[in-house]
Formats: sequence, C-alpha cells, structure tokens
Amino acid sequence: MRHLLSMADLDRSEIEDLLSLATEFTAVLEREIPKVPTLRGRTVATVFYEASTRTRLSFERAAKALSADVMTFAPGTSSVTKGESLKDTALTLRATGADLVIVRHEAVGAAARVAGWLDCPVINGGDGAHQHPTQALLDSLTLQQRFGKLEGLRIAIVGDVATSRVARSNIDCFTKLGATVELIAPTPFLPFDLAAFPVTISNSLDEALPRLDVVYLLRVQLERGSGPALPSIAEYARRFGLNRTRMSRLAADAVVMHPGPINRGVEISSDIADDSRSLILDQVRNGVAVRMAAMFRLLGSS
Ligand code: CP
Repeated sequence: MRHLLSMADLDRSEIEDLLSLATEFTAVLEREIPKVPTLRGRTVATVFYEASTRTRLSFERAAKALSADVMTFAPGTSSVTKGESLKDTALTLRATGADLVIVRHEAVGAAARVAGWLDCPVINGGDGAHQHPTQALLDSLTLQQRFGKLEGLRIAIVGDVATSRVARSNIDCFTKLGATVELIAPTPFLPFDLAAFPVTISNSLDEALPRLDVVYLLRVQLERGSGPALPSIAEYARRFGLNRTRMSRLAADAVVMHPGPINRGVEISSDIADDSRSLILDQVRNGVAVRMAAMFRLLGSS
C-alpha cells in the first residue's frame, strides 16, 4: 500500500490486516504509557482544508502514540490566504520535512492529486462527498469488537447518503467484509448513481428496524446544500430520526452508530445518542488505533 485514498485501494485481506493491526494498537493505547517508538524520527503533517474534530485530532494522537513528530497545517492562518495553491502548499510541507501527509479537502479527488505531486505517502482524511477510508475502517473495527465479525450483519445506512463520503467508504468496506447494506433515505437523499452500489434501498425506517443488526445514521449535511432537498428538517426528523419509540422496534442486541458530528434532535434523539446501545464514542476511540495502523503500514516498514 503506497497511499490510502479510497476503500477501493483495499481488498478484504488488506482490510483484515489493518483491523488486526489496529486491534494490537488498541492494546498499546490501554498501557500506562500508551506509546511505541515505531515512527520515531518521522514527521506526519495534517492538512485540513475542511473543519474536523475527530479525524484530525485522532490522526495527531495516533502519530504521537507512534512517536512521530506532527505538523498541523491550518489554511486560515497560512499562505493559502495569500492565494497559495494546494500543489504549492503540499510541496512546501514535503520540503519542510513531512514524511506522510493527511489531507481533508472539500474537492473530490484532492487527496489523490496531492498523492500525485508528492514522493511520500498520502492518506485521504475526507474529500468532498467521495471517500473517507479511515472512517470505514474504524467503523468496521467497532463492529468487529461488538459482533466478532461483519460477515452476515444486516446494516442500514440511514439519511443523507447523496452527500456522504462516509456512506461511500462504508458501503465498500462493510460489503467486502461480508455484511449486507441497506440504504434508507428520502428520495432526494439517495445518490444518482445507485446502480453502482451493492445495496438494497428502502424509504421506510419503521418497516426496516426489526430486521437490522446495525442502524448507521448520517448527519444531514447542511453545509453541502442538503437543506433545500427536504420539505423541512422537522419533517425529516419525524420520518427518519432515531428516537426511543423506534429503538423499541430494534432487536435487543442491535446497535446504533454515527460518524459524528451528530445533530441531536434531527437524525438521532439526544437520549439515544447517549444510550448504552450507541457505539458513537467507541467509534471515536477506535479512530486512534485504526489511524495508527494505517500510518504504520504506510511508513513503518521503510
Ligand atoms: N467523522 C468525522 O470525520 O468527524 P470530523 O469531521 O469531526 O473529523
């Protein structure tokens, strides 16, 4: 693996290798001193043109747990404000000493462009509505921890699929690992290229709930223009929001997931977000180990 840009870069055995390595790093993170010297002397740069809490912080925590040095690039206080291009920014970071670059950008394909310009590994931390591969890996690790394996799980991805890079990466990862994926959304939230996805479609969450092992909720992405597609946010919450009444229709061992950030009261009610069957914070926690695994595979052996 030279870069990690898309789930399409990984076959099942490579995904399983990363999940197995992440499981080992989970144990490292539980030690009194949660650190290994693996990437001592290497430098990781986080280059986030779009807002992030979980992805950027967990990459930085993961790099430090591997003993790498970290450079945090913030576009708003950088020479991007003077018009510097993505290419010149990337080349500058590499010349400054970055050995691995993590890119988040609103443009589809931005991380792949950076990978084409640099002679070091690049990880896609999210490019527009395209891909978010480490999110899919951390979600798969979370499900593996809960259920032992993904083979045979029935997973519904609910909500704003059309604008969701998480949905695209997760459909690919979950199905490669043997799960069945169903998309549940109002028609304006379904992607135009549905035929490209190995999924079934439904527009009734209530009807689907009893057959599911996992309800994976997506945020309504108002920043990507999703608002006008709906009659109202309140109507969306009424038809597709997961609340206590709907939870009672799920099997006793079914779980709830969300990549975050969550809109409490829209796609998930506040009490369900904090429920013991919500894995939201487990997902965040697993982000550190999964990102350690990805960086180790890209840099560790060289
Ligand atoms: N899930 C996710 O990508 O969260 P952030 O936008 O906070 O990084």
